[in-house]
Amino acid sequence: MSDRYRKQPRQREYEDPDETVRPLPRVFVLVVLGMVIWGAVYILGADNLGDASTGDSRTLTALAGAPVGEVNGAQLYAGKCAGCHQATGQGVAGVFPPLAASSWVTGSETRLVQILLHGIQGPIDVNGTVYNGLMPAWSTLSDEELAALATYVRSTWGNAATAVTVETVASERARTASRSTPWQGGAELETVP
Ligand code: HEC
Repeated sequence: MSDRYRKQPRQREYEDPDETVRPLPRVFVLVVLGMVIWGAVYILGADNLGDASTGDSRTLTALAGAPVGEVNGAQLYAGKCAGCHQATGQGVAGVFPPLAASSWVTGSETRLVQILLHGIQGPIDVNGTVYNGLMPAWSTLSDEELAALATYVRSTWGNAATAVTVETVASERARTASRSTPWQGGAELETVP
């Protein structure tokens, strides 16, 4: 057997493995670097992020930039009121009074706005049933939002009362600006013009 044959098995095998230096592809590095720089510039340049700890308190109306209408009112109602008064406006028997067919809703619009601005704490007769719970105040909502809400509850579930304007809400808010307690039930609300 000659030397030639003895060498053959080694030639068939792969090279022994060894560590090689394989740098990241330059394109990849550039893309990642570009994204990091873009992100930093974006965050530093964004001046409208505000104080994150307060959450996003922009109102629906402000976001939509839309005129007051039934759509906004419906959205607000679903978010702020339906939990108690229910999506059907029927309330919960004995606990949350109905808004459907309630004269507090369809009657005096200034009274309704006052209920929304300051809330109620005390006995109130709604459609023959006396409720004595706590209706929260909604004065943190804007005039536009309260007008949309009032208009919505006055024109839904068979209610057919006139729309409430932003001006009405604004003047009612100004008129009772010094008040800091809820209305003491139906008796006091009766005195509201
Ligand atoms: C935490 C539960 C709760 C939420 C949320 C709530 N209400 Fe009320 N609401 C009540 C209670 C309870 C009363 C009755 C108050 C009482 O017994 O003194 C009431 C009374 C009322 C009344 C007068 C009585 C009637 O039924 O007509 C109106 C009008 C009203 N709420 C509208 C609203 C609107 C509009 C919203 C949303 C902005 C809302 N409420 C959100 C609990 C709530």
